[in-house]
Amino acid sequence: MKDKILVLGSNGQIGTELVTALRAGYGSNNVIACDIRRPDYEIKNAGPFEFVNVLDKDILKAIFEKYQPTQVYLLAALLSATGEQNPKLAWDLNMNGLLNVLDLALAYKTAKVYWPSSIAVFGPNSPKEQTPQYCTMDPNTIYGISKLAGERWCEYYHQKYGLDVRSIRYPGLISWKAAPGGGTTDYAVHIFHEALKKGSYASFLSAETELPMMYMDDAIRGTIELMDAPAEQLSIRSSYNFAGVSFTPEVLASEIRKHIPDFKLSYAEHDPRQQIADSWPKSIDDSYAQKEWGWKPEFDLAKMTTDMLTNLKK
Ligand code: SER
Repeated sequence: MKDKILVLGSNGQIGTELVTALRAGYGSNNVIACDIRRPDYEIKNAGPFEFVNVLDKDILKAIFEKYQPTQVYLLAALLSATGEQNPKLAWDLNMNGLLNVLDLALAYKTAKVYWPSSIAVFGPNSPKEQTPQYCTMDPNTIYGISKLAGERWCEYYHQKYGLDVRSIRYPGLISWKAAPGGGTTDYAVHIFHEALKKGSYASFLSAETELPMMYMDDAIRGTIELMDAPAEQLSIRSSYNFAGVSFTPEVLASEIRKHIPDFKLSYAEHDPRQQIADSWPKSIDDSYAQKEWGWKPEFDLAKMTTDMLTNLKK
């Protein structure tokens, strides 16, 4: 059967690059980009686009009816920092958007569904170093709470109804093509832009705040590898731990200084995102992803930094 793929939330930091990668693999016309905002030039002109609000069940149903998708990627969400400014909206979008998609995927017999979770599912009482797949999880942001609840729903739809839903707990994602959407890890993208533009950056996270991160190329490849893996190899239908590199603002700044020797890093005080970062893991144990679908990152800190600076300079 020929695949038809819906990407809901196609204009965000992940969607922008995922749509391009999926179109390269499945053909432009078989990947339908969907978002509430007009897409950027590249995606719109490289294939079909539809205006879709995942909270609008009628429009969403019409899109399923029109395209009869074999795969759906649901990326529309409010992230950790933005979510704290509007908790009820974050809950509504992150939860009801997911439930709408899971129900339609069942009704239209969609073969595979992808939904991203996050390191935000962990909380202050989760182990901080090499955080395991299974441990105490007490997220204290609405984003994290919605992601943890969403993971439970995904597993539930798999166990009760046999829906083939797959998920990854993304770390902070670093990329140059599209801006990050209001997360706690966004400093690690902003720093590159400011280093090139101004030669300095004021980080909203403190010098020693270590967080799990990943370069977008790895994240996109890992996502597609998970979706391509044989179903019987996958024991986890909540969401897989997924690791790339971990670093602090200070360590990232030293790496940037290898390219921009005069780069200056300072620190902004009293940013609410610090508290969120302090509740998250420093590093992630992703041995299930390694064992079950062969996950292995390609970008370390040095390779990522070189690639970011080279592309942003263009
Ligand atoms: N990058 C996300 C955030 O900071 C984590 O999932 O909200």
